[in-house]
Amino acid sequence: MWGFATLATILLLSLPDHADSTRLSDLRDSIGRRPLSRPTEFLAAHNKIRAMHNLTSLSWNRMLARYARRWANTRLDDCKNLEHSPNSPFGENLFWGLRDHWNASKVVKYWGDEVQNYDPLTNECLNNSVCGHYTQIVWNTTQSVGCTHALCNNNEGHLFVCSYDPPGNIYYQGPFGGRFGKCIVYPPSSDRSSSTLSGSPHAPTGITAITANNRDFISGTTGHPANLTPPKFNLNNV
Ligand SMILES: *[C@@H]1O[C@H](CO)[C@@H](O)[C@H](O)[C@H]1NC(C)=O
Ligand SMILES: *[C@@H]1O[C@H](CO)[C@@H](O)[C@H](O)[C@H]1NC(C)=O
Ligand SMILES: *[C@@H]1O[C@H](CO)[C@@H](O)[C@H](O)[C@H]1NC(C)=O
Ligand SMILES: *[C@@H]1O[C@H](CO)[C@@H](O)[C@H](O)[C@H]1NC(C)=O
Repeated sequence: MWGFATLATILLLSLPDHADSTRLSDLRDSIGRRPLSRPTEFLAAHNKIRAMHNLTSLSWNRMLARYARRWANTRLDDCKNLEHSPNSPFGENLFWGLRDHWNASKVVKYWGDEVQNYDPLTNECLNNSVCGHYTQIVWNTTQSVGCTHALCNNNEGHLFVCSYDPPGNIYYQGPFGGRFGKCIVYPPSSDRSSSTLSGSPHAPTGITAITANNRDFISGTTGHPANLTPPKFNLNNV
């Protein structure tokens, strides 16, 4: 009996490390209707957007996905606050949506549609809009992505977290290279830190850009310093 119980516990504890995608596709939304998003959905949606710019495809990184999931799992009681993981060495796109129609394809497409808000000549988001989720997706030095789609507690909707390595949205740089006087996401110290884009009370000042609206979804992204970009994070330690 003891032997069996111990073995079962070990199997249970070791399962998540080996069965990420299985577990994801086995989970259902809060009313049991459909599976939560699969890695292939996240990845295909990202690479469709990158292909439009002839950029190399991102690869799926399970350790980035685990990093994203671990962060998401700490946020499920207050998804709407859209808090970013502090000091993450990765780029990070977040999305919270209350309604059940949100899935990986829709969320990533929503981010990609910010292309209309981005001015590549000046490297800024037009009309105080948000374009940083899009620019992270098409950042040409970013190579891999890992995402998670989690259900928030108390039927409070869906939380999506994508982590990117190396991170994009480097201050004063553009997604396709080049240095600019303007930023997609302004650094914390900057006077230009666009307060209209910085809405999360718990996020480190200036590194988040928020799509706020009166409706039932919101998204945020991060910016990163060029000189302080951490040496390539050892993903094996995540
Ligand atoms: C992508 O490559 C195709 C074929 O080489 C070219 O016609 C197109 O203009 C390129 N698109 C961009 C956005 O660079
Ligand atoms: C995601 O949502 C869109 C729009 O509602 C839908 O067309 C698509 O089939 C969904 N994808 C999956 C995998 O459920
Ligand atoms: C920006 O705002 C101006 C004036 O309101 C408007 O004419 C223009 O279409 C807007 N541009 C975009 C990309 O939304
Ligand atoms: C990114 O774009 C810059 C500027 O065009 C180019 O020099 C660099 O080689 C590109 N990097 C990658 C990984 O495509």
